[in-house]
Amino acid sequence: MLRRVVYTSRSIGGAGLSTVSLAHILGAGERNNRRDQITSGLVVHGDRILQALEGPANEVGRTLARVQADPRHTDVEILVDTTTTRRVTGEAIALCDDPEAFLRAVSLPCLSLMTAEVAEAFVERRLAA
Ligand SMILES: Cc1cc2nc3c(=O)[nH]c(=O)nc-3n(C[C@H](O)[C@H](O)[C@H](O)COP(=O)(O)O)c2cc1C
Repeated sequence: MLRRVVYTSRSIGGAGLSTVSLAHILGAGERNNRRDQITSGLVVHGDRILQALEGPANEVGRTLARVQADPRHTDVEILVDTTTTRRVTGEAIALCDDPEAFLRAVSLPCLSLMTAEVAEAFVERRLAA
């Protein structure tokens, strides 16, 4: 069994995550998630962040604890926390290269309006695809 967590958060410092912060997050994510058998998808839009983390339950728990304690973002809100046998993410950490398209796909103008229902529906659609 795998654990899937989807959370939203808000980056610290005005205009969103800096390129340097993002590069560091992607670097750490690539290295650690590979080691921990975690796959993950990250959407960054303005100062809003959405991440899905999937993998062995204990590893997801450890990763989430580090991520939640990271001072580069705040207001971490867990929308989905479930067990599953199938992943919807495929890479160690994949940054969504078209956040506007992601928002259109979930019919939201802004990531801050993301709800558990919308996140769950998106996951279900990915599983059905
Ligand atoms: C929005 C966000 C997402 C992150 N995602 C991950 C992740 O998927 N995996 C990870 O190991 N660290 C992630 N981090 C970084 C961790 O908070 C932490 O800096 C890192 O795990 C420390 O790793 P290190 O001890 O190898 O440097 C993320 C941080 C932020 C702010």
